Amino acid sequence: MAETKRKKTIIANWKMNFTMHEASIFLHKLSDKVKAKRGVEVVLAPSIFTLQSLSLQVKKRQFKLAAQNFYWRDFGAFTGEVSIAQLKGIVDYGMVGHSERRHIFGEQDKDLRDKVAAALRSGIQPILCIGETANEREFGETGDVIYDQLVGGLTQVTSEDMKNVLIAYEPVWAISTTQNAKPCTPEDAEKAVEMIREHIRHLYGKKAGDEVRVLFGGSVDGDNAAGYLGVKGVDGALVGGASLKVDAFNSVVEKANALVS
Ligand code: 13P
Repeated sequence: MAETKRKKTIIANWKMNFTMHEASIFLHKLSDKVKAKRGVEVVLAPSIFTLQSLSLQVKKRQFKLAAQNFYWRDFGAFTGEVSIAQLKGIVDYGMVGHSERRHIFGEQDKDLRDKVAAALRSGIQPILCIGETANEREFGETGDVIYDQLVGGLTQVTSEDMKNVLIAYEPVWAISTTQNAKPCTPEDAEKAVEMIREHIRHLYGKKAGDEVRVLFGGSVDGDNAAGYLGVKGVDGALVGGASLKVDAFNSVVEKANALVS
């Protein structure tokens, strides 16, 4: 597998930051700065309420958009929810099961598999986020957690649909906002990503496991991005804190640019 020739996807997860006005100004600054090479795809995941206005401002060849979360039913009496079907034409990707959704909002695999299926039904690529907590890691459960979260989230996904699913490995203990966060070494990231590919091979066959796009997330910034993006089997990064600063995020994109040249 020629690692450096594979497309790199860099996603800015803005989480619950920026007002509509701030998001628009930030996007303006990013647009001036970020010049991704062919082979590097840059995706912005803003708060859901800014998606529509940003979709009118964004240059589609420069940035794609992603939903940070959505409900799995398409339409109906679900007060306060936004479905992925409603976001059709606005987003290319939908994040599913981010650790903050799992751990703060109690989302379970049964919710997540329906979200993965809903995104695929609407022609939007789901990004299934998985990763173990510090406790699970200490007890040597990383492999099992990864397996369970993959099986749990992919239950309704056929081999054909698997081509449109991305996996993001985000060890919870390495996310910058987690208490006592520690950096994940590129070696540890490589081991986990290989485990993910091995599980996908087991579930969907060798080709699917080799080709599934796997991203890494957890305190990625301009200083360490080259290390993670250079790891065998890592196809990109899901960036939180550093995506809120133009220069830091641009620096991550530039590290990806250097790998595809
Ligand atoms: P940080 O980059 O702030 O650690 O956040 C990672 C993350 O949760 C991205 O989805």
